[in-house]
Amino acid sequence: MSNQTSQQPRITTSALAAKKARGEKWAMLTSYEQMTAEIFDEAGIPVLLVGDSAGNNFLGETNTIPVTVDELIPLARAVVRGSERAMVVADFPFGSYESGPDQALATGIRFFKEAKVHAVKLEGGTRIVPQIRHLVQSGIPVMGHLGLTPQSVHALGGFKVQGRGEAGELLKAEALAVQDAGAFALVLELVPAELAAEIAQLLTIPVIGIGAGPDVDAQVLVWTDLMGITKNAPKLAKAYRNLRAEMLAAATEFSADVSTGTFPGPEQTFH
Ligand code: KIV
Repeated sequence: MSNQTSQQPRITTSALAAKKARGEKWAMLTSYEQMTAEIFDEAGIPVLLVGDSAGNNFLGETNTIPVTVDELIPLARAVVRGSERAMVVADFPFGSYESGPDQALATGIRFFKEAKVHAVKLEGGTRIVPQIRHLVQSGIPVMGHLGLTPQSVHALGGFKVQGRGEAGELLKAEALAVQDAGAFALVLELVPAELAAEIAQLLTIPVIGIGAGPDVDAQVLVWTDLMGITKNAPKLAKAYRNLRAEMLAAATEFSADVSTGTFPGPEQTFH
């Protein structure tokens, strides 16, 4: 039996479409390496995002803008290797698709061949419709991302709620443009809940919210925010645990045990 037939299939874009049709909500988490990929996959999270949020959560940058394709590819490869069931989506970092459809396809091909991800995510609306179309026509599923798009944080004047007032109509039009270009799902970040709910109703593809209220098809969080590791997590996130305190305590105890000669004990010692 070949490897492909002996394993359970990965979550597909059509499985996500079917969830929307059934009104079944689902969760997406970021992951940047093998261990979290294994754990979140075991938890049944259907989509893992190798976000460019790796910049400020893994690579020590202050935001996502400096992140490169060369930096994300090994992370994406580890997430694919660490998971069995989840669809793994790789973010296109800033500078890897803006020049046009050919640049976007070259980036998509690298993520497909070198990391073996199952889909990619691009930030933007009408301005990147040609890129989305070209990727989709070439066999690369695309997830869109609108609202607060962190790669444009300087142009947007900071991390502010998007689509308030008249800007709401424009955001709806952008969402429709992304869907019409062939995207299989859309992330909406930092958008008023009422507007996000309207967009989720308007679109036939799943809408994944982050700071977009409860009435969308799915929710995504950055995993370090979820686990309470991030020092100054954004208001849109909820910390389900306080792993920062747990890890700090464990490292402090280990250090003390080494200083006092308590570690290694008899259980960790070989004769
Ligand atoms: O990079 C990222 O983690 C993201 C999510 C916040 C949607 O784009």
